[in-house]
Amino acid sequence: MAQTPNSSRVFHRTLNTSFPQATLAKGVYITDSTGKQYLDGSGGAAVSCLGHGHPYVIDAIKQQLDHMAFAHTSFFTNTPAEELAEKLSQEAPKNKHTSGNWRTYFVSGGSEANETAFKMARQIMFERGETSRSHFIARQQSYHGGTIATMSAGGRAASRDLYEPLLSTNFEKIMPCFPFRWQNEGESDEAFLARSTGELETMIENLGDKRVIGFIAETVSGATLGAVPPVKGYFKEIRRICDKHGVLMIMDEVMAGMGRCGKLFAIDEEGVVPDMITLAKGLGGGYQPLGAVMVREELAQEIEDGSGAFVHGHTYVGHATACAAGVAVQRVFEETGIIEQVAVKGDILAGKLIEAFGDHPHVGDLRGRGFFRGIELVKDRETNEPFDGKHGLAMKIKKAAMDEGLICYPMGGTADGTVYGPNGDHVMLAPPFIYTENHMDELIEKLGRAIDGSIAGIL
Ligand SMILES: Cc1ncc(COP(=O)(O)O)c(C=O)c1O
Repeated sequence: MAQTPNSSRVFHRTLNTSFPQATLAKGVYITDSTGKQYLDGSGGAAVSCLGHGHPYVIDAIKQQLDHMAFAHTSFFTNTPAEELAEKLSQEAPKNKHTSGNWRTYFVSGGSEANETAFKMARQIMFERGETSRSHFIARQQSYHGGTIATMSAGGRAASRDLYEPLLSTNFEKIMPCFPFRWQNEGESDEAFLARSTGELETMIENLGDKRVIGFIAETVSGATLGAVPPVKGYFKEIRRICDKHGVLMIMDEVMAGMGRCGKLFAIDEEGVVPDMITLAKGLGGGYQPLGAVMVREELAQEIEDGSGAFVHGHTYVGHATACAAGVAVQRVFEETGIIEQVAVKGDILAGKLIEAFGDHPHVGDLRGRGFFRGIELVKDRETNEPFDGKHGLAMKIKKAAMDEGLICYPMGGTADGTVYGPNGDHVMLAPPFIYTENHMDELIEKLGRAIDGSIAGIL
């Protein structure tokens, strides 16, 4: 039964609305307690990569529970954590300048992963004796999590504003790599690339010698911008700048990784080996809360050869049942070749989106990679002027889509070039990898009605 706003004792995300109660989830559909079905068009928030109720993953979790649910990692290691770390190390980006091996620290979600990455990066600098390094550089219009440090790194005004007095000022921001909104009129692609990467070098130099620990960015920008891939060559240049200044390059692949963009690691498309990669969402596929920080072996070795212990920890680090789910998800990836299918099906979905929305009077941009797609809505297609944030268009579309029986991921604040500002709207799509063309058609039909009805309501 749907809860009325004040009959529930759960502290929900919004306290003045009621949520349908999800009771069953199978394949690409979630059913609520009234029997209404919702097509999952965004994997929740880019989580349910294998869809819902996958028998192999469920069976693996049950088997792990029968053996051992949990043993605290200050006393023991466990088989699923070891196996998953080994598998990720084998698959992670490599080149001839690195050992090719990675170590993985398992946590329970994306915020914990990024929080852990910041501390690990700082400790690596400590081991080097570079204790003056105290700052991170991140990007405007980014999201790295909901904890104080990850929000400090993030540039999403709607998440930050209320908490601004609590946030750390040790996280500086450069511009995002988002040509649709940030490329100046008449600016060439080369000049845009130089400007967007040049900001990093300038920021590092302005902060001063041995002041910056690391640079963090979403490989493909997720919920804040709506699936924006980097321009070609962007991360290669970022890598060069990081190397020149002894700054660690941290890729946040919490959303974009684990096959979402058609490769296990989204950064593989860029031909670059970062120093750290953070993961969550698709790593556990929604079957268990699981996140991870991957770090190149050479860097982990610096802590091993130095103090020997990482000064950090959470109770559920390396949780055996969560890692068992992660192992099962990796096995499904490997045995079914489903990630290669994402690359192919992603192009089909992109084609269908162009067909449906390419000439839409209020669609300014269609973008993305693989099964990570964004539709940016504009008031005026000639000028790309966004809808005023006061309309809350994104949230109207989210509700209209739910009424239609569709789960998608709309978000406001897309267009503002500054850290602060609520203008602009997009819809992000991140379907489960098991989608067929029929599912794509159903998604587009329902989404089209939700978008058109919501825009008609504010014009
Ligand atoms: C890119 C990115 N990083 C970090 C996070 C935080 O992950 P979590 O919500 O699991 O803490 C998110 C969540 O949406 C994300 O999209």
